[in-house]
Amino acid sequence: MLGSTPGWPAVLADGPVVLRPYKRSDGRSWSEVRIANQEWLAPWESAPPGPWSEMNSTRAYSYVYQDMRRSARKGESMPFAVCLDDQLVGHLNLGNIVRRAFSSAYAGYWVDHRVAGRGVIPTALALAVDHAFGPGGLHRIEVNIRPENRPSRRVVEKLGFREEAYHQRYMHIDGNWRDHLGYALTSEEIAAEGGLLARWRRVRA
Ligand SMILES: CC(C)(COP(=O)(O)OP(=O)(O)OC[C@H]1O[C@@H](n2cnc3c(N)ncnc32)[C@H](O)[C@@H]1OP(=O)(O)O)[C@@H](O)C(=O)NCCC(=O)NCCS
Repeated sequence: MLGSTPGWPAVLADGPVVLRPYKRSDGRSWSEVRIANQEWLAPWESAPPGPWSEMNSTRAYSYVYQDMRRSARKGESMPFAVCLDDQLVGHLNLGNIVRRAFSSAYAGYWVDHRVAGRGVIPTALALAVDHAFGPGGLHRIEVNIRPENRPSRRVVEKLGFREEAYHQRYMHIDGNWRDHLGYALTSEEIAAEGGLLARWRRVRA
């Protein structure tokens, strides 16, 4: 029901970085970028069983798309295609949305290795968090990261997320149960700074 999905659908932008809902027609570009990034993404994702090329084909996209759409419509997630200069280059999802007294979500993301290091994901995460705390009506965003994933830890550290937990054998990734560091941010922590994008702009300046 639309009434149960505050903040969705939405298009968020900061310069060339645009977050928008996926479209049915994204299949070819989604598949191209996923297949080109197998080695880059596989160590950090909980992948469905099956060969990467099949799980990330344009045919697989139609199932992925339906799944994302269904979950977003139920208010359980906000799955954004991350675009740079109109090209689909990544993904950012606010998932496991729980409302009422918790009002919290988990953020997950990836970007094409060909545009890594340009601040695309910190910008995308800052946009998504500000949206979640505003129209999305949420209070807390959590990010869980394998300790070995230095680039992802840098993303949340640069944005000033708090490191608040160590989860042992937290998620099955790349063939084993992997420990994760838990980072989080609540709306009070950035309210006085005019939001996370404003903070990120100051950090980058
Ligand atoms: C983690 C990730 C999303 C970061 O996105 P990004 O848009 O490149 O983020 P940034 O531009 O802020 O770069 C973050 C860090 O990546 C590292 N980095 C920069 N360029 C890089 C490159 N070409 N290749 C590898 N790492 C690079 C740097 O340590 C950088 O930190 P710094 O700004 O302190 O130098 C991206 O590396 C990625 O998609 N990794 C694979 C999937 C993944 O790990 N997802 C997250 C799971 S928790």
